[in-house]
Amino acid sequence: MAERGTDGEPGPETYESAFDAAVAADERIEPRDWMPDAYRATLVRQIAQHAHSEIIGMMPEANWLSRAPSLRRKAILMAKVQDEAGHGLYLYGAAETLGTGRDELLDKLHSGRQKYSSIFNYPTLTWADVGAIGWLVDGAAITNQVPLCRCSYGPYARAMVRICKEESFHQRQGYELLLVLSRGTDAQHAMAQDAIDRWWWPSLMMFGPPDDESAHSAQSMAWKIKRHSNDELRQRFVDICVPQAEALGLTLPDPDLRWNEEAGHWDFGAIDWGEFKAVLKGNGPCNEQRISQRRRAHEDGAWVRDAAAAHARKRQEAASR
Ligand SMILES: [Fe+2]
Ligand SMILES: [Fe+2]
Repeated sequence: MAERGTDGEPGPETYESAFDAAVAADERIEPRDWMPDAYRATLVRQIAQHAHSEIIGMMPEANWLSRAPSLRRKAILMAKVQDEAGHGLYLYGAAETLGTGRDELLDKLHSGRQKYSSIFNYPTLTWADVGAIGWLVDGAAITNQVPLCRCSYGPYARAMVRICKEESFHQRQGYELLLVLSRGTDAQHAMAQDAIDRWWWPSLMMFGPPDDESAHSAQSMAWKIKRHSNDELRQRFVDICVPQAEALGLTLPDPDLRWNEEAGHWDFGAIDWGEFKAVLKGNGPCNEQRISQRRRAHEDGAWVRDAAAAHARKRQEAASR
């Protein structure tokens, strides 16, 4: 990809055509390459929203850390919640390569100017919710994110490779947890079923609005940031989940779920987009709780950031002496 030469400054058209050619050839765009302002802005918005979702996503499950039913379950859940913090870190790092600092992005999250995935505005009412989140929420995230490993922007694509490997562990731990509950006592089985009943529809909403209402999809596909449409990915997720639910001995709460022989896919019922929009607007069950907890955590962490900055300053001074 063309970088600014030392002699003979090429005009903006040259940069733009080099960018277009690189995207067309499936090459990666790197931080120092020229890129259209709108491409940069789209990436910052998407990566920020993704990073915010990782760290807000720690909250619903962290809620169960102190009440995990065994030491083994607690250790697994701790590892998972820590992974999510790491995902946030990789992604804020990827956004920094586009010239947008973490402070600025966190400020936008805390003031409600940037969003996170609305799935995390639902409460975790029972232990089985930890399983449902792993199986369905992390499962939906993987379906969304595997194609992002081929995203045209290099740092984002590379972060996704590592994230997807960890997400697949998250998905399996959730599935295994549900399997144990499903094969347990009647009360445990019922608890697992109740969690699936509550998390199924919100997890389908994670793929975003239907294609004909998705504002940014077409341009993102042209730039090869996105590789598949929202509806395509949602269908892929449903097709994966139906046989898995059957193997779990649990049912998905959709009476319209039917195998469509002709299409080779599972048909499913209508999604309540009114609920999706309400949660997105801030009226979900936990929106306020999540954002106020995040602000508090940021304020509580101020002394750590100050101490780290002071330590870095000291080391720098010592090195320059
Ligand atoms: Fe994650
Ligand atoms: Fe995860």
